Amino acid sequence: MSRAGVQEPSKSTVVGASPEGARDPNSASRAVREMFTSIAPRYDLLNHVLSFNIDRLWWRRTARSFRHILSRPHARILDLCCGTGDMTFALRRQAGKSSPQILGADFSHAMLQRATAKSFSSSNSSPGWIEADALRLPFPSADFDLVTSAFGFRNLADYDAGLREIARVLRPGGECGILDFGEPDGMMGALYRIYFKQVLPRVGTIISGVRGPYAYLPESVERFPPPEEMLQRMRNAGFDEVTWTPYTFGIAGLYRGKKLT
Ligand SMILES: C[S@@+](CC[C@H](N)C(=O)[O-])C[C@H]1O[C@@H](n2cnc3c(N)ncnc32)[C@H](O)[C@@H]1O
Repeated sequence: MSRAGVQEPSKSTVVGASPEGARDPNSASRAVREMFTSIAPRYDLLNHVLSFNIDRLWWRRTARSFRHILSRPHARILDLCCGTGDMTFALRRQAGKSSPQILGADFSHAMLQRATAKSFSSSNSSPGWIEADALRLPFPSADFDLVTSAFGFRNLADYDAGLREIARVLRPGGECGILDFGEPDGMMGALYRIYFKQVLPRVGTIISGVRGPYAYLPESVERFPPPEEMLQRMRNAGFDEVTWTPYTFGIAGLYRGKKLT
């Protein structure tokens, strides 16, 4: 599918992550899980070094956007593709003294082990962690008030199936927030592309000791639908009031949508 000017994405074409060697959505999913499992030991360090710590601001800003839900004591919140849990912890911190139930879900056991270990050193009440595939969530329909995902949605093997699954587990009127990388325009974009495509894969490979994942990262961002197309996909999956807010010149951005009642 062409990236530019797409209004009605075709329902028959699967659009999603496709790491090297993937032949279909199942093998793509497996390759993504193996990739994140292989970098789990160094994932946090690499995240902070490669983003110059701006990732912390992005998680915090995303959590702040949903303070109206996080302040409800009985709200149920799911952070998908939670990895080592930094987005989940940002949601927990934003909730402050109110006590919504917050769950982080990921399909990489190694990433979740790190999230769990970080819970023990956290002073706030800990989120719950669950090993689950975002495309086949082990939750009933209409179970959550908010579903978030930070830098994880882009790795799904089928974006439309991912959006439909998020919509399924949200209650009517529930909201979703997808934080992910974008491609900035202009001079900033040109400089950023040099960093993202030339510098980041090399530094990532050296620090992680694993070759593939940090070459996959810029490729996966390039494959990800641009904002207009992503917003249309969200509408098609049953979301209303969809918006995209660029963060830091559009290097990242937050997609929001409300499940129709
Ligand atoms: C780039 S990390 C993001 C982690 C965390 N949210 C953050 O902001 O640092 C992407 C995570 O998505 C997870 N992931 C990718 N596809 C998934 C799927 N289909 N189901 C569950 N988790 C998935 C990976 O295992 C990985 O931990």
